[in-house]
Amino acid sequence: MSARLPLLILDFGSQYTQLIARRIREEHVYCEIHPFNLPLEQIKAMDPVAVILSGSPSSVINEGPRCDSGIFSLQIPILGICYGMQLMADAMGGEVVQGDKREFGSARLRITHPDDPILRGLPDDSTVWMSHGDKVKSLPEGFMEIARTDNTEFAVMRHTDRPLYGVQFHPEVIHSVYGKQFLRNFLFSVAHLSPDWTMGVFIENTIRDVRKQVGDKTIILGLSGGVDSSVVALLLHKAVGGQLVPIFVNNGLLRKNEADQVITTFRDAFSMNLRFIDASHDFLAGLEGVTDPEQKRKIIGRIFVEIFEREARSIPGAEFLAQGTLYPDVIESVSFKGPSATIKSHHNVGGLPEKMDLKLIEPLRELFKDEVRELGRELGLPDEMVNRHPFPGPGLGIRVIGEITDERLQVLREADAIAIDEIRAADQYDKIWQAFCVLLPVRSVGVMGDERTYENTIAVRMVESLDGMTADWAKVPYDLLGRISNRIINEVRGVNRVVYDISSKPPATIEWE
Ligand code: XMP
Repeated sequence: MSARLPLLILDFGSQYTQLIARRIREEHVYCEIHPFNLPLEQIKAMDPVAVILSGSPSSVINEGPRCDSGIFSLQIPILGICYGMQLMADAMGGEVVQGDKREFGSARLRITHPDDPILRGLPDDSTVWMSHGDKVKSLPEGFMEIARTDNTEFAVMRHTDRPLYGVQFHPEVIHSVYGKQFLRNFLFSVAHLSPDWTMGVFIENTIRDVRKQVGDKTIILGLSGGVDSSVVALLLHKAVGGQLVPIFVNNGLLRKNEADQVITTFRDAFSMNLRFIDASHDFLAGLEGVTDPEQKRKIIGRIFVEIFEREARSIPGAEFLAQGTLYPDVIESVSFKGPSATIKSHHNVGGLPEKMDLKLIEPLRELFKDEVRELGRELGLPDEMVNRHPFPGPGLGIRVIGEITDERLQVLREADAIAIDEIRAADQYDKIWQAFCVLLPVRSVGVMGDERTYENTIAVRMVESLDGMTADWAKVPYDLLGRISNRIINEVRGVNRVVYDISSKPPATIEWE
């Protein structure tokens, strides 16, 4: 890849900004999201080949966010999407007004200039997705309309002799049927970019950079068996082999067979220099008598850091700490994140690098989750691990509601393994964001044979989601629920009732604690 940034996305706060970036990356073009107020000097230093201006919940008329308008004089291709188009129109002398009514949902796009490169391959009439209140009333000088809808005269505008485009609909959402083609046209026919951002190139570059940075020193890594830390382990192992020491701590709150699976995969199959620490007793002792969810998280986090730190200090030459930070955590986004981002304290090894004077290595910080999965596949991570549902750091500790005991963990582990087994058998696992069981602190009466029972309740939770921020319960077939319930009640001692959680997030959350 050249030193120029292929595509810069300026974020004005739209909920779709990350989606735009993912669509661009899917076309194998590297792009970065930066806040709208990025100084012009910095933009020039990045030297982007092209720029996209995102949408925004704000209004150009009511002093919404603005970028340095010097950007429009840079002589590079710029595409303004929704608010981005209105901003471009306003900044260049056009007029933006409040529409008579908000336009939200599907509209029919009618193309008036089919020869324009950005409209190549689009039919004369297609469905697009709109979401705006304001609209461009008169175009700036030098601009022309190239497509319209019934409600919007200027659905797509362009400058007559410069590569400046504005689009009122959202090409990045799937409801815009030819949106992908539209974006592709901008990248390849207008900006003449090349599709050279591939995982192969990423792997090569990362390996080269890591080798240079690390020399003969050692990198330590907290390996959880989740997708992110597993992919970091594989990537760094490819770069520095035995100089990578992954540390895997069994906190006693893992699922059935999970610890064995991590050891088999990383120590046996990938021949890594894995340190395995079974600290189940420390965690369970620390959690004794604790029922409050936040307390549980804090205790689990604290013990983890203590153990990890002790182990890390015993590794000679350890100068680097690797972490599986992803791009969405790095983006200085102005997008609305909502309260759920901080409603539960999520623990990691935060604070450790400074305390131990370790340098951070975050090889995934440029990647989205779907790219991390692709990378994992490319590096040979088994499919079962690549497609794994997210699993919280505090593990089953926040799925045994109330006090955590060995016995209750055992009940939950068995029930959860059965549920996942049935979900996989029904071919539902990959269609669901997350599925798991929760052990409730409630006993209820039942009958088994001629006997009255008074036993535990298991709640089954399955949700659909895009990013974990909002979620809905999964409408899976009843017979799947029936099989899960039957098997759990028949096979797990101590459970006589299974319920299905039909709450959405918000107002509920995905986990119960
Ligand atoms: P909630 O329950 O907040 O969960 O709707 C959203 C997503 O985050 C996961 N989660 C956690 N992950 N430490 C983690 O690493 C935690 O303490 C934690 N709590 C929730 C949850 O599994 C879901 O994917």
